[in-house]
Amino acid sequence: MNDKLQLLKGEATHAIEASDTLELLEALRVKYLSKKGEITQIMSEIRNVAPEDRPLFGQQVNELKTYVEQALYDKKQVLEDRKLLTVLETEKIDVTLPGYQLYSGSIHPLNQVIEDLEDFFIGMGYQIADGPEVETDYYNFEMMNLEKDHPARDMQDTFYINDELLLRTHTSPVQARTMLKMHGQPLKIVCPGKVYRRDDDDPTHSHQFMQMEGLVVGKNVSLANLKDALLNMAKHLFGPDRDIRLRPSFFPFTEPSYEVDVSYIKKDGTKGYIEVLGSGMVHPNVLKMGGYDPEVYSGFAFGVGIERIAILKYNIDDIRHFYLNDLRFLNQFKGEIQ
Ligand code: PHE
Repeated sequence: MNDKLQLLKGEATHAIEASDTLELLEALRVKYLSKKGEITQIMSEIRNVAPEDRPLFGQQVNELKTYVEQALYDKKQVLEDRKLLTVLETEKIDVTLPGYQLYSGSIHPLNQVIEDLEDFFIGMGYQIADGPEVETDYYNFEMMNLEKDHPARDMQDTFYINDELLLRTHTSPVQARTMLKMHGQPLKIVCPGKVYRRDDDDPTHSHQFMQMEGLVVGKNVSLANLKDALLNMAKHLFGPDRDIRLRPSFFPFTEPSYEVDVSYIKKDGTKGYIEVLGSGMVHPNVLKMGGYDPEVYSGFAFGVGIERIAILKYNIDDIRHFYLNDLRFLNQFKGEIQ
């Protein structure tokens, strides 16, 4: 190999060994191997070589080129490995450090009561039904046997959008809609949801509240079935030692109608009763409008105020707590029923 090639080889070897970044290495590749690079250029000097030495010269230049390529490649591997190691080293995660505390919300106490009741009724073979909060006068009142100008409408004054559209005063219109959908087939539903009434808000009244109404229609559905369902519900909600008391009452959509009280033990040890919900046997007119023959079918219905249940269960002194979104109130219900 001629001196010049030898010199170039030594110099390149040195430079490659000394370069400690990928950028420097790339600069060396350009310096030696690019079009204008020193090794590429040296090939043109073949003109000055004696014709008989030219094959050897050519071969030696090619060998030098391959040698430098390999040296660059090897060094590149070393530098890339080193770079990866540095990244792994600097980005190492200390898995023994404690994690950040994630803030978690919780299910609203009213929804906890609803979910609990839904589970209970699903277990008893009921289905959950849903409907619009903006209702027609027809479904909210007329289908419930409360024709226009019926005096009992006064108990459920509401927010009217126009003469025919209103904010529903109970979830009973969902029952009417479901009866029509069932085309005379037996049904067992509960309908939870928001309802509205014109009311001045105070510790026990709210213009918006939650209800869950139930409706069972079938052959031979009796008052005994209603009592059984409500007694089981009371025990589920408040404990196995509770019992219930039915007091005659009036609702236009049920006949007979009952207020239902649940027993509790007073401070002096005697037994008392507290009013919890309304119920009754479905009025024949309601069955007829819903597409059932009242001579063949009968049914029972009940309506529970969710706030009332939550107030009794958790000893809450003001219904407005449920709607103010004060975290000090809401956080007390974390992890109650999951
Ligand atoms: N719809 C009644 C109300 O909101 C509750 C109820 C439902 C009463 C079913 C009896 C039977 O006041």
